[in-house]
Amino acid sequence: MRKTVEDYITTIPDYPEPGIMFRDITSVLQDAEGFHLAIDEMIRLLDGLDFDVVCGAESRGFVFGAPIAYALGKPFVLVRKAGKLPRETVRQSYELEYGQATVEMHTDSIRPGQRVVLVDDLIATGGTIEASAKLVERLGGQVSKIIFLMELAGLKGRERLARYDVDSVVIYPGK
Ligand code: PRP
Ligand code: MG
Repeated sequence: MRKTVEDYITTIPDYPEPGIMFRDITSVLQDAEGFHLAIDEMIRLLDGLDFDVVCGAESRGFVFGAPIAYALGKPFVLVRKAGKLPRETVRQSYELEYGQATVEMHTDSIRPGQRVVLVDDLIATGGTIEASAKLVERLGGQVSKIIFLMELAGLKGRERLARYDVDSVVIYPGK
């Protein structure tokens, strides 16, 4: 039978802590067919959508976002973890289970009115991509769609992103 993206994702129980099922994408990437399939399936989620820019969240979002942008002939824009971008930026902080994280974009990376597709490998709580979406909006961009390779539906990140069009290739019911 033809393999699906899910077949290439490895699940590691109790990593990094007991009770957590870690969904590992390295096994997707290190197989040429798995990588192709993952990118093709993510691109399929964008069928019929008109947009201007692909934007990926550091770091695993770069791995999937950049090939999607390249394949579709769109520019690729980075949402980076704070302190990495050399020019003028906008910053957005968000809550983690313990503490806070901050993400950043160059102020000239999105022009007002541009329609942006946000890409990441995974949605868990939705915090990372919500902060990324806020940055895009603060720069005057419109979030046309948010796509993920994987979704941990049990963490209800999609509820947090209720105002956006969200889609994932593989949806796991748990956490
Ligand atoms: C992971 C993953 C997503 C995010 C999902 O990134 O790649 O970006 O967490 O979690 P959330 O929906 O609860 O925000 P991580 O911050 O571990 O960093 P990495 O991509 O650099 O590995
Ligand atoms: Mg990440």
